[in-house]
Amino acid sequence: MRALYPALADGHAYLDGAAGTQVPVSVIEAIAAAYREGIGNLGGAFPASGRADAIVAHARAAVADLVGATPGGVVFGPSATALAYRIADALSRAWTAGDDIVVSRLDHDSNVRPWIQVAGRAGVTVKWAEFDLVTGELPTAQYADLIGPRTRLVAVTAASNAIGTRPDVPAIAGLAHAAGALCYVDGVHATPHAPVDMAGLGADFYTTSAYKWSGPHLAALAADPELLETVWPDKLAPSSNAVPWRFERGTLPFADLAGVTAAVEHLAALAPGAAAASGGASASRRERVLASMAAVEAHESALFARLLGGLAELDHVTLYGKAARRAPTAFFSVTGSSPREAAEFLASRGVNVWDGDNYAYELCTALGLEPDGAVRAGLVHYNDASDVDRLLEGVAELA
Ligand SMILES: Cc1ncc(COP(=O)(O)O)c(C=O)c1O
Repeated sequence: MRALYPALADGHAYLDGAAGTQVPVSVIEAIAAAYREGIGNLGGAFPASGRADAIVAHARAAVADLVGATPGGVVFGPSATALAYRIADALSRAWTAGDDIVVSRLDHDSNVRPWIQVAGRAGVTVKWAEFDLVTGELPTAQYADLIGPRTRLVAVTAASNAIGTRPDVPAIAGLAHAAGALCYVDGVHATPHAPVDMAGLGADFYTTSAYKWSGPHLAALAADPELLETVWPDKLAPSSNAVPWRFERGTLPFADLAGVTAAVEHLAALAPGAAAASGGASASRRERVLASMAAVEAHESALFARLLGGLAELDHVTLYGKAARRAPTAFFSVTGSSPREAAEFLASRGVNVWDGDNYAYELCTALGLEPDGAVRAGLVHYNDASDVDRLLEGVAELA
């Protein structure tokens, strides 16, 4: 499978997948093919326009299969951040002074700041869910106290992009729903690492960015189309009033959307044996995605145990977070080296890691790590034991 990724041939250990993955040749070719075949704008009278219509429909169906959504409830946008701002702006118009919302200090800032900013304008109180500084857990019990009759929205991540914690989203969403609040789930970090079922999570909104799962640089937001029907974003007068179109501003990146479909097909094909076992030759793409992502989760968790075990043996390394359920993402400081110095040293050894706060701004502030953050090494499905060992050897040299 690694051979399907041309970029991996440069010999680097790509442990920066949490900041963006490489893409397989099928994605590159799908994007190139869309341009080569000719793309018109949507809704025109000629065949190239029909191809754009089809590309968009296929991409909505693909994302729906990836996260367990309805194609008609999949909205595309340039990034999860842009989509969060779009929905926050639209939802907050129905909020009134004295309402409240709940955000978490575990989250990437894109699922925090948009909500705080619109809440401030609407006179809505912001309540904070805190994570445990030692374990990295986001205790569910606190939500029973935080959520009340005036709570309109609970924003929470499905996985921390810094320390990997996967909170108990179904329980948190259940508490939100019991109070009549909506649950906005940031699935950007979680989606590439395990099977996703929006309904099982209880997510009213679920965001995911294709560039974190072998696709191009764009994002999707999934929701029940009936819920989207109740929400009105700012939009141009002549653009469609229909869901999901009214949430998409301007012209979509059609060729990249062809790449989104190819990326989901790629993921669905990762574990053909497992898919055959669960659904036989007639397994649907959704079934194949679920089987493949379960295989991805197993592969990554074995590698992650190797990574964490190796780092734990190094006295000059401080690891942050040890939640029971985690995405395979390690966040650590190296005594005697700033995060950037450590990342530069590792880069000189052909190991790509990220340094900084990764926009997990509240988390890094709470851990006393701002402004430099820490080193992040994240695993994705194309990483192998040699990537992990090269990281461990490089970090060991920093002693
Ligand atoms: C957990 C999480 N949420 C949100 C984002 C923001 O995604 P985007 O770059 O699509 O706005 C990221 C990006 O790293 C992320 O890791």
